[in-house]
Amino acid sequence: MGEYSPILILGAIIGLFSLCTIVAYLVFKKHKPKDLDRQMSDWALLLRLLGYAKEYWYMFPIALVVMLISVAHDVISPLLIGDIQELLSESFELAELYSIIIVYVAVLAVSMLCTYLQALILQSVGQKILSKLRQAVYDHIQCLSHNQLNHIPVGVLVTRAVHDPSGVSNLFTNVLVTLVKNVMVVIAVVVAMLMLNYGLTLVMLCFMPYTILLAYVFRKFFRNAHRNVTDANTALNAFLSENLSGMKITQIFNREDRKMEEFLQRSDGLKKARQGRIVIASFFRPLIQMINYCSLLALFYFAGKGYIQETDFLGQTITASVLVSFYMYNSKFYRPLFAIVDQFDALQQAYASAEKIFRVLDTQPELVDEADAIEVPEIRGEIEFRDVWFAYEPDVWVLRGVSFKVQPGQTVAFVGATGSGKTTILSLLCRNYDIQKGQILLDGIDIRKIKISSLRSHFGQMLQDVFLFSGTVRDNIALGLEVSDREVWEAMRLVNADGFVKNLPDGLSHEVRERGNNFSAGQRQLISFARTVLHKPAVMIMDEATANIDTETEVLIQDSLEKMRNIGTVLVVAHRLSTIQNADNIIVLSQGEILEQGNHQQLLSLHGRYHKLYTLQQQKELLQKS
Ligand SMILES: Nc1ncnc2c1ncn2[C@@H]1O[C@H](COP(=O)(O)OP(=O)(O)OP(=O)(O)O)[C@@H](O)[C@H]1O
Ligand SMILES: [Mg+2]
Repeated sequence: MGEYSPILILGAIIGLFSLCTIVAYLVFKKHKPKDLDRQMSDWALLLRLLGYAKEYWYMFPIALVVMLISVAHDVISPLLIGDIQELLSESFELAELYSIIIVYVAVLAVSMLCTYLQALILQSVGQKILSKLRQAVYDHIQCLSHNQLNHIPVGVLVTRAVHDPSGVSNLFTNVLVTLVKNVMVVIAVVVAMLMLNYGLTLVMLCFMPYTILLAYVFRKFFRNAHRNVTDANTALNAFLSENLSGMKITQIFNREDRKMEEFLQRSDGLKKARQGRIVIASFFRPLIQMINYCSLLALFYFAGKGYIQETDFLGQTITASVLVSFYMYNSKFYRPLFAIVDQFDALQQAYASAEKIFRVLDTQPELVDEADAIEVPEIRGEIEFRDVWFAYEPDVWVLRGVSFKVQPGQTVAFVGATGSGKTTILSLLCRNYDIQKGQILLDGIDIRKIKISSLRSHFGQMLQDVFLFSGTVRDNIALGLEVSDREVWEAMRLVNADGFVKNLPDGLSHEVRERGNNFSAGQRQLISFARTVLHKPAVMIMDEATANIDTETEVLIQDSLEKMRNIGTVLVVAHRLSTIQNADNIIVLSQGEILEQGNHQQLLSLHGRYHKLYTLQQQKELLQKS
């Protein structure tokens, strides 16, 4: 009994550690919030991810073969060192020592070459998968409806499209390879040890179940820790992307301190989440290390005793070379286990990212073409709203029974107080949202029966906030359309945008910075007009196109509007009634309902809301002039 006491003590220590781990796990499991639970299992995630690697399957067997060769070093080197030890303990031939060293160097060189090749192959596959994932996420985001996009902060989408795919690609370039390679090393080392001395191998293997148990228990801890880190990261990114865009407002209103506080709060959240992950890893690693040392001590105890006392151990004699080889195998056996543990951490990180990506990919786009939707290559431009009811949020009606008809080529204006539903009407026409009741018809066809891409191709939109992309003036007007410079200039001439573009240092190639912040509001409007005209839509939509501009530009825009009337149907929202006096029909809205409609003269003679608005504006202009 006394002879085995060291082993019993070691066993008791490991047992105690394991018990503590299980108790901690049970406590953690009990207090874990429900929504932290993952909806997809690890296997389901892995299988789905492997789908993205399917195309490059032929690279994996090559990488596997190369990997197998590189593993040879881990198996052969302890044997060779053992041989040297054996050789040195007796009188030896120098030539024999040299030959062992040459074999060792050769094995090492081949192994290094194979490790390099394997990294090269897998990195290139990983980058391809990364790009595919990014593409899939971006493509899917583009299919989401305005309503769905309104509910996801931009920063979150950026994280999904950039940060998360990188986490997942690490799975292919690093994690899976290291896992497979290290599992192979462990198996190869065990086989080599069994062939050398099965008794000592069994002693070492006694400690293996503890490692597996620990890995299993800690898997849950790691998973939740990674989920917390990903969530905190996303929250910080969402905050950053929103507040960097609004930085100027923060500065104007002197709210830097307040925003800093909010930033620190989120940054602190990320710090704590990361610390949580480190704490878990710092518990896990020493526990595994502890098992490694226990196994080493057990090896020294049994093998050392057998060697010194020259006794058998389980029927096998123990030589100095066996002792040295086993000492090396012990570290070769545990080092991959550590690596597996490290990769385990990265694996959970990749799973957490993958889950977030799949959640976006699994969000069904709300607006999809109906099965019997048709292409409409050409339209006349007749529009009809039949008793349309619409709400952005359930039961908060923004439009209530709106009905009107626009004949092809007509210009129709929408007038009304702020929030009365003007922009909403224009938005519904392009099917940015689906209506709840009623019908919207284009050339007599319900717009839900027309393919969305076909429908939108007939509209040219000039919206309230003109959005310019970073690039050149030309890029912003052509928007990817294959057109000549002559056509671009023609479009600009029609809408009077050519004057200011000519004066830009680089003309059409002049740089447009993010959101067009190096252009004035009027210039941005004119660029958006040129963009619309160049795309030759059958229906042109202008939302408050004449707001926020000086009188000179207003005259230019007024003139362009008149010219555009000849291109097709025009729907326009304007606060300045002077700009829409020539419209064929003016629709006056109030709280989502049509109050009155008719042309300028008809509405004035009604002496209703339009008359009131018009007289008020006239008085204001007179006051300004005097
Ligand atoms: N994405 C949205 N989600 C929820 N409610 C919205 C959304 N967009 C607009 N609304 C609401 O719908 C109503 C009509 O908005 P809309 O933008 O159509 O007004 P508008 O007539 O264009 O006003 P303005 O003259 O100020 O541009 C408003 O009460 C507004 O709060
Ligand atoms: Mg509006």
